[in-house]
Amino acid sequence: MSAESAFMVVRGVRLRRDPAREPCFTVVHSDAEMQDWPDMSEMARRERLHRHMNNEVGSLEIAAQMLVDFPEAPWELRLQLARQCWDETRHTQMLYKRLRELGGRKGEFPVMNYEWGVVCLMESLEGRVALQNRTFEAGEMDLFRQLIKTWTEAGDLETAEMLDTLLADEVAHVRFGNRWLKRITQGNPRAVMKIAQAMAHLRAVSGALAPTAGEKNAAGVDLTAWTHLEHNTNVEDRELAEFDRDEIAELLRRESALSAGAAPDAAGAD
Ligand SMILES: [Fe+2]
Ligand SMILES: [Fe+2]
Repeated sequence: MSAESAFMVVRGVRLRRDPAREPCFTVVHSDAEMQDWPDMSEMARRERLHRHMNNEVGSLEIAAQMLVDFPEAPWELRLQLARQCWDETRHTQMLYKRLRELGGRKGEFPVMNYEWGVVCLMESLEGRVALQNRTFEAGEMDLFRQLIKTWTEAGDLETAEMLDTLLADEVAHVRFGNRWLKRITQGNPRAVMKIAQAMAHLRAVSGALAPTAGEKNAAGVDLTAWTHLEHNTNVEDRELAEFDRDEIAELLRRESALSAGAAPDAAGAD
């Protein structure tokens, strides 16, 4: 990929250009172009699995790209990233299988590669691990815990069990990221600065891409009336992933501020 074509600009923010997708997929760049629903209709269930499947491919690609871009990274970290690639591959396969069992197919709905676009713009390994493992995947731990309940209540215990299996792997991905970041930042203000820059970048992107009041998605759902991206802090798994007590307390503080109607002051656990 040439330097000119490696990036793209969406709503005024610079992102890494999308990874390759098979021609059957329609790749979009905003929530407004996605087709997702807040309910658990048959269509909504397939779309949830389809979107999740593409996100798992994205996690695989982000981890693999770290291996490519940072060959000098410590061996132990490279080993963990390689293991993560294997996990994300299995997750993708599990979701694709379940999607087909529910009558879905690849390319049935639009897909978006948001995390790839944000994470792979970072030039430092510290920035990528902070965004991908410590922020996005940690957010997935929170989300999965909620989704397990949603699918269980909808009577689909098979999908709920599958998500529980995925969650166990995600905890490991967040934990090795947390451990490495703690090690690399000890007495290393330059590494701390790189992480702070990455988090500032994420705040800028999520601010620029946030839906405007009344904006609807491609399924006609009002994006600002629907709180599908909010989820509760999964304290138990965050502890297992080695977030410390103060970090979890801060997340809970933000969550209660959010539910009280105040604007959150960050998109993740920085
Ligand atoms: Fe995964
Ligand atoms: Fe993961």
